[in-house]
Amino acid sequence: MIAIAPARAGEGALLARLHASAFDRPWSAEELEQMLALVQAVTLVARGDDGLNPCGFVLARCVCGEAEILSIAVDPRSRRRGIARKLMETLIESLNEAQARDLFLEVDIANSAALGLYRGLGFVEAGRRRGYYAGAGGPSDALVLRLDLEAGAAAGFNMAQKPL
Ligand SMILES: CC(C)(COP(=O)(O)OP(=O)(O)OC[C@H]1O[C@@H](n2cnc3c(N)ncnc32)[C@H](O)[C@@H]1OP(=O)(O)O)[C@@H](O)C(=O)NCCC(=O)NCCS
Repeated sequence: MIAIAPARAGEGALLARLHASAFDRPWSAEELEQMLALVQAVTLVARGDDGLNPCGFVLARCVCGEAEILSIAVDPRSRRRGIARKLMETLIESLNEAQARDLFLEVDIANSAALGLYRGLGFVEAGRRRGYYAGAGGPSDALVLRLDLEAGAAAGFNMAQKPL
């Protein structure tokens, strides 16, 4: 089973390892530690329910009711087990508690795994930045996606509470 809990101060190196396992351009432990320390940051880590084996994280920030995902990653060995969805659902619950109105993110249009995740949660396209990412196969567009948290909360969005 997987448990989701807030990251703790001092876990920048752990987040950096997970980030490096998922992205070509890794963020440093110091950068991630600084992000963790931001008062507006919400950072959740997925671990085995013994509290060990961190396998994914989501990092967001929320300013004046508007939230934004800065990064989400799941270790390649732990993918397709619903861990990212559970991280996102827990994040959305926490943002609902904080009465945030909207959740935004940016995603490469070529990232079909991430697009499937976000569409399944109800995100819709809010904008497009043409040629924003420099991919190996040439420039690729960024989609700006938005989730209406107020509408989701009013409709009774609730985490499925199913064990993974
Ligand atoms: C995107 C990512 C976080 C998904 O993590 P995950 O734990 O494997 O995702 P989940 O198992 O929770 O999958 C949830 C949904 O996402 C979609 N999805 C996930 N992986 C997919 C894949 N390889 N291909 C197609 N759809 C996929 C599916 O719709 C899936 O629902 P389903 O299993 O019911 O079909 C992971 O692939 C990752 O870390 N990628 C590299 C980093 C990255 O791209 N982050 C996002 C930047 S915007």
